[in-house]
Order: sequence, then structure tokens, then C-alpha cells
Amino acid sequence: MPTVQQFLEEKTTQAIQAASGTTAPAIVKPAANPKFGDYQANGIMAVAKARKQNPRQLAEAVVAQLNPAELPASWEIAGPGFINFRLDPDWLGQTLLAIAQDDHLGVDPAANPETIVIDFSAPNVAKSMHVGHIRSTILGDALSRVLRFRGHTVETDNHLGDWGTQFGMLIVGYRSFLDRAAYEQDPLAEMERIYKEVQATSTTDAALADRAREELAKLQRGDAANTALWREFMQVSRQAFERLYARLNVHFDHWLGESFYHPMLASVVQELREKNLARPSEGAICIFYDEDTELAKTPFLIQKQDGAFLYATTDLATIQYRAETFRPQRIIYVTDGRQQLHFRQLFAAAQSWGHTMTLEHVWFGAILGADGKPIKTREGQPIKLAALLDEAEERARAIVQEKNPGLSATEQATVARVVGIGAVKYADLMQNRTADYRFSWDKLLALDGNTAPYLQYAYARIRSIFRKGGFTAWQPASDMPVRLLAPEEQALAKQMLRFGDVLIELERSYKPNLLANFLYELATQFNLFYQAHSVLKAPQDRQPTRLLLCDLTARYLKTGLDLLGIETLEAM
Ligand code: ARG
Repeated sequence: MPTVQQFLEEKTTQAIQAASGTTAPAIVKPAANPKFGDYQANGIMAVAKARKQNPRQLAEAVVAQLNPAELPASWEIAGPGFINFRLDPDWLGQTLLAIAQDDHLGVDPAANPETIVIDFSAPNVAKSMHVGHIRSTILGDALSRVLRFRGHTVETDNHLGDWGTQFGMLIVGYRSFLDRAAYEQDPLAEMERIYKEVQATSTTDAALADRAREELAKLQRGDAANTALWREFMQVSRQAFERLYARLNVHFDHWLGESFYHPMLASVVQELREKNLARPSEGAICIFYDEDTELAKTPFLIQKQDGAFLYATTDLATIQYRAETFRPQRIIYVTDGRQQLHFRQLFAAAQSWGHTMTLEHVWFGAILGADGKPIKTREGQPIKLAALLDEAEERARAIVQEKNPGLSATEQATVARVVGIGAVKYADLMQNRTADYRFSWDKLLALDGNTAPYLQYAYARIRSIFRKGGFTAWQPASDMPVRLLAPEEQALAKQMLRFGDVLIELERSYKPNLLANFLYELATQFNLFYQAHSVLKAPQDRQPTRLLLCDLTARYLKTGLDLLGIETLEAM
């Protein structure tokens, strides 16, 4: 079924057409203030202006075209020519009941399901994943979950940075500076250390820098010893990444890193040259854009003077490979905002090359420390993701111990994991992704406010109502009486009906914070309802409706949190 908002939009747009002969959107949105109604149509003023007509008169003519028997709402004209709609409580009750029978909570699949590739996380091999990669991982995972829920076919792809100049340095470092014991203990940390040591030493030691270049060239020619070493670096990095993804409950369908495309790069450059999209410039090969555009300001290099290929070349080859392999209608890239120009240039080049799929760059801002600068350890190093997750669990455990000392050690560990990891993810997803945000342990672990623990707690609380009342097997029956009489009951039900529109808007804008806000508002409405009305001691004729509201709130919370990649617990 369409969402209420879509239905009101459709009917009001038809009424505008009938009243004015103009095809114009009704622009129906949830009302900002429930005092004035539940939805508001704002589109009439623009039509009146274009027709030089009095907007209130036009609004009168439009509502005269609305059919009361067809609409689930009453309405009134307000202000200069808005229409305010108020949902009918009986209709609301019946709709909730229908939703309760649906596994998808009343959300229709997308009208045109697509095949969508999502390229996210993509850390660089031989370096540990730090907080900069966390946003890509968390956001990309949430988007893939939402798109799957909407019925799309999603291919998640981890485009690892597993090829490039760092390997020459790593090979030299491995042979000259390796601390074997440290490497066995924490291979990524030791690889990072030797990489930095070679980097630092080669600024004064030209011979070392030459050796790194030689080893890289040998690797690229397929030298057996260097290839074996590169494989080893790949393997230990991959194991470390997998451990983190397991903790985060993030899965990839494909791990096609940059190295996978290496054999295709020469022919990509050749094809682009033949098509006249790329040409030599000062010895290098560049893609050219119309001169007066923003894109032309920095050259888009696809081959260097020495013949080496670049990040951009790989990305072009990747688009071609994905087009042939997955035939996607859409490819989404999730990286930080500093890569915006790269992707704009890439997308324009791909289009000229003949690729017609939709290409989207979903970018995000930085995570800041308490000082408002990009977050760092006390020693000024980037914070490692593993250490961040450890600390989240540790802090959550301390809270659980204090709140619920009766839990066994194993139960406490589970709650600490679910709450700690959930809190870190939610702190990221509740932000408008394009803004930088300040990281604060106290804020993200708070039990009230817009946090994961608040939502997880609301869920667990509802589950405990069912346990306490002996309703563990409670199920909504399709013929049960539903009567939404109290304002808190109605407000909670109305909030639930917004879920479908939130997901549609999220899919359009790639903004999971819309879903986070929906869940926060839902939990808040639930708490208001629960403070005002008893459920277990409700009068007999009111109890079924209230159990239905509880059950559906829990299902929306669980489903919504799951779409954000966050787990829930039956008890906390
Ligand atoms: N490895 C890159 C980085 O850490 C991100 C790759 C994003 N994906 C892509 N197809 N360019 O910045």
C-alpha cells in the first residue's frame, strides 16, 4: 500500500488538477505542529501565484474536489492557503492492524528494484583501520541494509587499497627493520611501524629510497619473492580486517581490491586514448574536460610519465568491470568529503566513456575530538578502530555493572558488547553525514537522549512488559478490536505510519540520520504513552489496543535498529 503521505499527495494533486487545470505537486509533508493536524499540503500557493489567483480561493476550490469517502482524514484550510489533514482514528487503528500482519511493517518494496553496487569501507592494506574508516564502514553497511529492505539487489564490495607505492617501502622495511616478535603479536602495527621507519629514513638516505623503488618495480614485474611477500601482507591485513568486520557485524559480498584491476589498466588507458577522451600532456596521460568547467581545473591523471597507473585509472577499470559483471543501475561510493572532486571527475569521465548507470558519491565529514580538531590519541596518533571498540565495550560494561549487578558475567559481556558497539555506530549514524561531529563517550553512552542505549532500553522494556504480563506468546489477531482513544495512543500510532516515508527519503538522500530521528521520536512517543497509560492494568476493552501499540513499537525499534546495523536485547 502507498504511505499515507503518498496517498494524500496523490489525491490532493488530482484535486489541484481538477480545480485549476494545472498539473502541480500538492507537496504534502508531515505537519510541523500536531496542533494543526498531521499532514499539510503546501503546493497550492505556488499554483495560485502562477495563475495570479487568490490562494485561499484556490484552496477552497481544491478541497471542494476532495472526496471525503476516499480520504482517511478530515481537513481544513489554514493560513494563506495550506490544507491541514487530520487522520481519522478508526482508519488509523485498522491500518495499524494491517501493518501488524505484515513482515515488512507495511513498507512496500521500491517500485523499480535495481541492482546496486555499494563500495564502502575500503581500508588500505598494511595499515590498521582507524576511525577515518569507521564512518564509511558504518554508513555503507546501514545503506546496504536499507536498500535490501526496500527490495533492491545489493552487491557490497570492499575496494581495498591493496596495490601501490607503499609496497616497495614495506618490502624493504620487512627485510631491513622487522621485529619478528612484534610482527607475530600484531602484524598490522608492525607493518605500519616499518613502513613509517622506511619513509622517515629515506628522506635522508637516498639509497634506501632507491631500493624501495626497485622492489616496487620488481613486484610489478611479478618477481616471485616480492609477490610472495605482498601476498603475506595481504593475508595478515585481511585477517585483521575480518576480525573487525565480525565485531561490527558487517559483511561484504566481494573483496575486489585495487590489485584485482591491475591487469586491466593498460587497456583501459588505451581505449580512452582511442576514444579521444584522454591524451598526453607533459608526458603523462590525462582525461580532458570542457575547459571552463570546475572539473578542468585539476588534471585527472590516468598514467604518469614513468608509465605508472593511478587511483583514478583503477576506478575507471572498476566501473567497467562492475558494469560487465553486475549490470548495476546504480553504484554508490562511501568515502570522506575530501574525495569529492575525484568522484566528480570520475563520474564525468565514465559518462563520456558511455556508462549510463547512476553514480553516487555519498560523502561524510570528519570525527572531531573534544577540542574540535580531528580526533587523535593523546600521543597525537590516529585512533585505531579496534581500540575504540574495546573502549566502548569497556565503558558499557561499567554502566551495566552499575545498573544491573544481578546479571551473570557472560550476560554482562553480551550486554556490554551490544550496547557498546551499538552506541558507537549510532553516534555516527544519527549525525547528518556531511557535517563534522564531535565524539563524546558520555553523550553516546547516555541512557537518555538520542542514543543507541536509549532505544535499546526502550525495546527491552517493552519485551519485559510482555514477560511480566504472561503475554510472551501474544500475537495481534486480524479481527481484534483496535480503538485509539487517548491522544498519546494516537500520536504513537501516527509516528509509526511515518516509517515508510522515512525510508523513501533515506533512499533518496542517503541519510541514515532520518531513520535514527524516526526511532528516537518513536521511543519518545512510546514513553509518553507508557507514562500516561497502564498496559498490564488497563481496562479489558483498552488492553488489546495497548498491547498492539507496545508490540508494534518493539517491532519498529528492532527493525529500524537492525537497518542501522544495531542489535537489540530482550533484557538489559
Ligand atoms: N582506499 C581508499 C581510501 O582509503 C578508499 C577507496 C574508495 N573506493 C573507491 N572506489 N575509490 O581512501
